[in-house]
Amino acid sequence: MENNFQYLGYSEPMALAMVEALKVNPYPNPRVGALLVDNHGNVKAVANHTKKGTNHAEINIFNQVEVEDSDTLYVTLEPCFHNDTSPSCAVEIIKQGVKNIVIGDIDLDIRTNGRSISLLEDNDISVQIEPNANNFLNPYYQNQHKKLKDIHYLLKIGISENDYITDDASELKYITNELSLSIVHYLRATADCIVIGKNTLINDEPKLNVRISGVNNIDHNPVPIVLWGTSTENLTSTMEKYSHFTFLSSMPSRDNNIYCSTDSLTDVEDYFLKRKFRNIFIEGGKGIINSFFQDGKIDSIYEFKSSSSIENGIHIGSEYTKQIDKNFLLNNRYALLDNLLTTYTKS
Ligand SMILES: NC(=O)c1ccc[n+]([C@@H]2O[C@H](COP(=O)([O-])OP(=O)(O)OC[C@H]3O[C@@H](n4cnc5c(N)ncnc54)[C@H](OP(=O)(O)O)[C@@H]3O)[C@@H](O)[C@H]2O)c1
Repeated sequence: MENNFQYLGYSEPMALAMVEALKVNPYPNPRVGALLVDNHGNVKAVANHTKKGTNHAEINIFNQVEVEDSDTLYVTLEPCFHNDTSPSCAVEIIKQGVKNIVIGDIDLDIRTNGRSISLLEDNDISVQIEPNANNFLNPYYQNQHKKLKDIHYLLKIGISENDYITDDASELKYITNELSLSIVHYLRATADCIVIGKNTLINDEPKLNVRISGVNNIDHNPVPIVLWGTSTENLTSTMEKYSHFTFLSSMPSRDNNIYCSTDSLTDVEDYFLKRKFRNIFIEGGKGIINSFFQDGKIDSIYEFKSSSSIENGIHIGSEYTKQIDKNFLLNNRYALLDNLLTTYTKS
């Protein structure tokens, strides 16, 4: 039953509900997973919300099994209070006789925003909050509901103890351990697209897909996007080799290339918005990271740090540390065996 979400501090049932949520993309609704366990911790049912206009995850649980008083319902987001497009899940939870519920995050949607929690508590239901499940599954959600913007840029970086992002002495392209890589794959599963620079494509030949047990069959793999830039040398042959990647370059649009001045991240963002991408996952390398930082685009950072030093390679440089010190707040630190994951959000 174990999955690696638990290394990020989630309980086992919440971690399973999160994996269930990641299997589908119910755009424009957020990803939500739910799970019912009995008092011995056995899973009785697991469900997600698959598509706008269909049942919410909680209702899909109630359609599978009967709830007993000693059961606990886990939901990655506060159940909806409102009943405009679907029945109120909070009301349904009361009707079904749930006595214990654990919620991933309070819903920032003003139609709910804590009102379901109050209603459930007023009906003698024990409500616990296990924060950050929805924040992980739907990074855009906070930006959208704080009326900032409908898009979220999440930077992932793998870095050595002494701040190198590549190692000339190693045949392996990874700096961090298997556990860190598995968390990266969960993060990828939340993304609408994964953005890399031209050099990262040429040097690393990445697959940019989701390869983790439980969520590797998803039908909404993030779109791999390469910011190719101005030079069109070798572009056509690379486009052919990576025919399922999308290239943004100064060449007129054709096949899998889109004309876009990538010097201007405003133009790049316009392209993302046109494609209805909300969760943008930036995977680097250094040139791309610095550009997105300098344009003030990055909203959150997952920094995976190894415990070893590197002698020769690309050092991330002073812009990275300057940006973190000036513009970001440290959220959490997680030990991933011999790696350290530090998460930051824009201040
Ligand atoms: N450890 C990690 O987490 C990690 C992650 C990813 C990559 N990497 C490593 O990073 C290395 C590559 O880093 P890099 O800095 O050389 O290259 P990069 O960031 O992958 O790509 C930079 C190139 O992309 C093009 N580009 C297009 N639009 C751009 C924009 N808005 N801002 C910046 N560049 C843009 C430019 O090409 P033109 O100059 O032709 O215009 C630029 O030279 C790889 O070897 C890879 O192994 C490490």
